Amino acid sequence: MSVTVCKTALEAVSIIEDNEYIWTHSMAATPRVLFSALATHAKKRNNLTLMQLHTERGEVLADESLTPHLRHRCYFTSASTRPLIAQGKADYVPIFLSELPKLFRSKEQPIDTAIIQVSPPDQHGMCTMGVSVEATNSACQMAKKIIAHINPKMPRTHGDAFIAYDRFHSVYWQEDELPQHPKAHLDEVTKAIGENVAALIKDGDCLQMGIGAIPDAVLACLKDRKDLGIHTEMFSDGVLELIEAGAINNKLKKVHPGKIVTGFAAGTQKLYDFVDDNPQVAFLDIEYVNDTSIIRRNDNVAAINSALQVDITGQVCADSIGTSIYSGVGGQMDFIRAANLSKGGKAVIALPSTAKRGELSRIVATLDSGAGVVTTRAHVHYIVTEYGVANLRGKSLQERAQALIAIAHPDFRAELAEQAKKLWHINC
Ligand code: COA
Repeated sequence: MSVTVCKTALEAVSIIEDNEYIWTHSMAATPRVLFSALATHAKKRNNLTLMQLHTERGEVLADESLTPHLRHRCYFTSASTRPLIAQGKADYVPIFLSELPKLFRSKEQPIDTAIIQVSPPDQHGMCTMGVSVEATNSACQMAKKIIAHINPKMPRTHGDAFIAYDRFHSVYWQEDELPQHPKAHLDEVTKAIGENVAALIKDGDCLQMGIGAIPDAVLACLKDRKDLGIHTEMFSDGVLELIEAGAINNKLKKVHPGKIVTGFAAGTQKLYDFVDDNPQVAFLDIEYVNDTSIIRRNDNVAAINSALQVDITGQVCADSIGTSIYSGVGGQMDFIRAANLSKGGKAVIALPSTAKRGELSRIVATLDSGAGVVTTRAHVHYIVTEYGVANLRGKSLQERAQALIAIAHPDFRAELAEQAKKLWHINC
């Protein structure tokens, strides 16, 4: 196929026609240069749908003036799309991240155009999807057209990240820094949560965790562990320090031993330099990475995820605050179920006991009206706050309520016990 090399990003996106379903590369590979061009081009088009995961620096496409022309379809939300969803001007699709490529490959969700950001072609004519393979690999396999921003700053990565230059319909070259996520500041609450979770992690465990303060706090406590492995949806800089400390070597993993398996990475330039041309990091299709039957083949899978609210029976809300959609289902359930199925596995939900500077308890008698249960009370295993660890597996509702109230903030324990009695007929 002949590739049109464009002088401007606007020229590259101009092949997008009315009524198209567009997939955008997401996370730290969000093609913001193409987004800016699409913000101009979309005004001349009607009925465009932009399908996406969490996008970074995507504000330009969230502008009110674009809503008559372009509608966001979010399989995971981000800061820029959250307000649009709240106003009914964008759509949220709850889905396990592992299911999204299936939706594309089965053509249940057709894709006209994929817009992506890639590393420059190598001597074999292969670009890579860089730090983010996630569902973009499947989207590119199914899209009728692919528009690529070729960014010399995008790391060349291994695994399923490769994509041939001659698959592209139009390309635009420009250097652009990737978004940086410096390590989060760890306050006392987060440090305590990190210590409580870390106490559950043993030598030889195979870890999954996300980005943010809690994963950083857990990883900071694991430097003296041995033979840890990584099979994760995503990772960030905290993992590098454990590799440097010799705590992570991936040698006990049954699936891709010796390698980190991930769907995407986001962090600082140090992380992007680490994954650049590094065959020890396999960026794989998310349908495979998050497949419970693949993950569970590793022993001692330790899945560490977070939540917005947990009720005293163990239902975990992670994608909304009441009826306000906050994030998405992502890979939480994929990894929690896989950890449950893995020999010696453990599934951890770690969260601060309160929100809004201590005004609200995140452990509640009943979830807020409209709250989205991501992990059901049958799947839940450990809940961890700064006050300790509640192991809910195999526990009755009464035992769960007692264990969860014991790790709630002390200011809310008496009220929770009262509500447990009134609403659930449970004595705590
Ligand atoms: N009521 C009201 N507000 C609440 C709240 C509650 N129960 N719980 C949290 N909030 C507020 C917080 O105060 C915070 O507000 P702020 O930004 O104004 O400070 C905001 O909601 C986010 O809470 P926070 O605890 O900082 O969220 P987080 O960034 O740590 O993310 C999840 C937590 C649950 C949203 C996130 O882990 C997620 O999206 N999970 C689902 C997907 C998943 O688990 N994927 C796993 C693989 S990576």
